[in-house]
Amino acid sequence: MEKRHEPGRRTVLGAAALGAGAAVLAGAGQANAAGRTEPAGAPAHRPAPAGRPAKLPVPLVVGHRGASGYRPEHTLGSYQLALDMGADVIEAGDLVPTKDGHLILRHEPDISATSDVAQHPEFAGRRTTKTIDGKKITGWFTEDFTLAEIKTLRAKERIPDVRQHNTLYDGVWPILTFEEALQWAEKKGRERGRPVWLHIETKHPTYFRKLGLGLEERLAHLLRRYGRHTAHAPNFLQSFEPSSLSRLGELGVKCPKVVLLDEPSVRPWDFVESGDPRTTADLLKPAGLKWIAGFAQGIGPWLPQVIAQDAKGKLGEPTALVRDAHAAGLVVHPYTVRNENSFLPLDFQVGKDPAAYGNSLAYFKALFATGIDGLFSDNPDTALVAAEEFRRH
Ligand code: G3P
Ligand code: CA
Repeated sequence: MEKRHEPGRRTVLGAAALGAGAAVLAGAGQANAAGRTEPAGAPAHRPAPAGRPAKLPVPLVVGHRGASGYRPEHTLGSYQLALDMGADVIEAGDLVPTKDGHLILRHEPDISATSDVAQHPEFAGRRTTKTIDGKKITGWFTEDFTLAEIKTLRAKERIPDVRQHNTLYDGVWPILTFEEALQWAEKKGRERGRPVWLHIETKHPTYFRKLGLGLEERLAHLLRRYGRHTAHAPNFLQSFEPSSLSRLGELGVKCPKVVLLDEPSVRPWDFVESGDPRTTADLLKPAGLKWIAGFAQGIGPWLPQVIAQDAKGKLGEPTALVRDAHAAGLVVHPYTVRNENSFLPLDFQVGKDPAAYGNSLAYFKALFATGIDGLFSDNPDTALVAAEEFRRH
């Protein structure tokens, strides 16, 4: 289980952990007539930066893996529900490859938790242990399956203990290819008369490149085929590995790029492989943000990097990250807000049931009040209710 954004995560990430730039935002920003906080020093009529497309509201809501609070993630059912709820952008990527080089949509290459692969005796022998980005993982991996084999599987709820209601839909949808998601987005865009925006993540790009399954060329090829590679195409691109985004830029993909930020002590895996000593904490500092702005238009920080949490998991004060990122010309799309107690700061939880909903509305509002440009949520409907009072179109 990854620590930074999974259930039960309770790491302290206060101002100290964020380094020198982690001053309290209060006082750094200025409230406008609607009570919104604008970045300090922002001119009244600044041009929309590349990471803040004029056709999208600010703050925007990204349906994380669709509407994964209600349907098994990265399925057509999840994407369609997010669109129906009014999500501004659909996260269609996490992209991982099959053995024969097709890009498919799964949270991780290990599909043990998100598919019925364990119920397929013909694949029992494919269960194995691998080391991905320095972590040993046992399961079934997409790169060991052809697309034809993947298509014999069905998607299921990843966290059934927390989202029992979603298990109703286990087995309803197949695993999607990225091209199928593009075709769905294009069709829905035509039907509603405005494009469906996508937020597309390359997953473990260095790991897959070493296997001969580079993601970026395949992604660039598909984006180009659907006319979604230009600066004004309705996509954001995201990765925890900065070099993946640079490579996409070199391949002529000009859509806004968002560098995802892990826990402060973590080194992006491409840094580990290339011998770059910097950690995420370095990237969170103004100099790191300036470096990111050389090839990307935004950052996707982990929630406690925007508003710190204390040792007990209670919400603390906003950090300086939003101000610093805006000063570097970067938009800020933090991940991931979810309605259930398991994922909320301690003082936003209601009752003791980890699967019950806490006061997520108040947490959403606290995040929007920092001046972020958008956020990822498994519950885009709730996020949109909270976003309304902060929105500027
Ligand atoms: O892409 C935003 C968020 O999903 C990042 O974390 O690892 O769940 O993709 P991950
Ligand atoms: Ca993602």
